[in-house]
Amino acid sequence: MSFLYSIILYFIIIPAFILLVIRFTIRKLRGKVDLTNEVDVSGKTVIVTGASDGIGKVTAEEFAVRGARVILACRNLQKAERAVADIRTRTTNGEMIIMHLDLSSLSSVRKFSSEFIEKYGGGLSILVNNAGVLNAAGKRKLTEDGFEEAFGVNHLGHFLLTNLLLPELAKAGEKNLSEPSRVVIVSSLAHTWGSLNFNDLMYEKTPLEDWRMMSKLYSNSKLANNLFNLELAKRLRSGKVNVNCYALCPGIVDTNIGKEDMMNNPPPVYVTKILFPIFKWVIMKDSKEGAETTMYCSLSKYLTHQSGEMYRNCEFWDYSKRPKLSEKDATKLWEMSEKLVKLN
Ligand SMILES: NC(=O)c1ccc[n+]([C@@H]2O[C@H](COP(=O)([O-])OP(=O)(O)OC[C@H]3O[C@@H](n4cnc5c(N)ncnc54)[C@H](OP(=O)(O)O)[C@@H]3O)[C@@H](O)[C@H]2O)c1
Repeated sequence: MSFLYSIILYFIIIPAFILLVIRFTIRKLRGKVDLTNEVDVSGKTVIVTGASDGIGKVTAEEFAVRGARVILACRNLQKAERAVADIRTRTTNGEMIIMHLDLSSLSSVRKFSSEFIEKYGGGLSILVNNAGVLNAAGKRKLTEDGFEEAFGVNHLGHFLLTNLLLPELAKAGEKNLSEPSRVVIVSSLAHTWGSLNFNDLMYEKTPLEDWRMMSKLYSNSKLANNLFNLELAKRLRSGKVNVNCYALCPGIVDTNIGKEDMMNNPPPVYVTKILFPIFKWVIMKDSKEGAETTMYCSLSKYLTHQSGEMYRNCEFWDYSKRPKLSEKDATKLWEMSEKLVKLN
């Protein structure tokens, strides 16, 4: 065997084959939305937060395709308009309405909710808490209300929003008892690495030494998403409210999350030009694939009688494959969040 042939075999053909097998296997394991087993959403009102980009934009499109009245709750109205214009090149179905919502501002969340109720009140069938930030810059950022940004946007903003919209969700649930309204929380596998310090939820006292701590902030906010889901389900059940809730991980999806921060502190060229494209091709989902579990949780009839559980790859996320969530922490987080957003 010539030297050149050996190099090609061992450094190109065999690695490429292994990557191909991994790519194929990963895609096999991903579930698919079962279009034949969905709740009919045509004419129904749904809200998607962060619908201007990534998974949220595809989610809004999927609802529009199914004939829903979709409220795109976005912080950047021009970007949202561009998203709608782009979606409209593919479908004329449904109704798409852009409304301003900045989850880093509690007053914006309150304004959005009251405007929604005033203009479109009468029942909200599905609320998708999708918007999210991942601070990859390594600097602690704060929201308008002084909360650590990831915790403030990903958890507290959505916590307040959901609570303010619960009467609307309940209203839609009462109209059709066999079809509970749904709250769908886009969380992440990253919650696995989270751990909440209830004495320092905003990381004011804990030093942020390096980027690992920044990813910890994201993980903590996602853990908060899952604890919120758990406690919300418990409260809805005990209040006999016909609303269910679901938390999910969309997978590793090629979107813009964290990219702006990363641009300011770019990784070495071999990462951006070689490793990342390989990783993307083998492992990552595109935004359409990334939105599939959101659509599954939003519409699948299999989930009509479930609440408070977690999902990924369009299926139940087995307890044995993730850390157990603490019910005590869920209650404590709820009570602290109520105080932080001044809910009562
Ligand atoms: N991508 C992944 O691999 C991955 C993995 C696990 C979980 N997730 C979760 O999936 C969700 C969607 O993320 P993505 O990957 O689609 O990211 P993305 O493309 O960056 O989209 C995030 C969306 O959230 C919006 N947003 C951010 N801050 C907001 C605020 N303060 N108020 C209102 N909207 C705000 C963004 O608005 P602008 O357009 O104005 O920036 C954008 O529309 C997030 O919750 C994320 O944590 C993503």
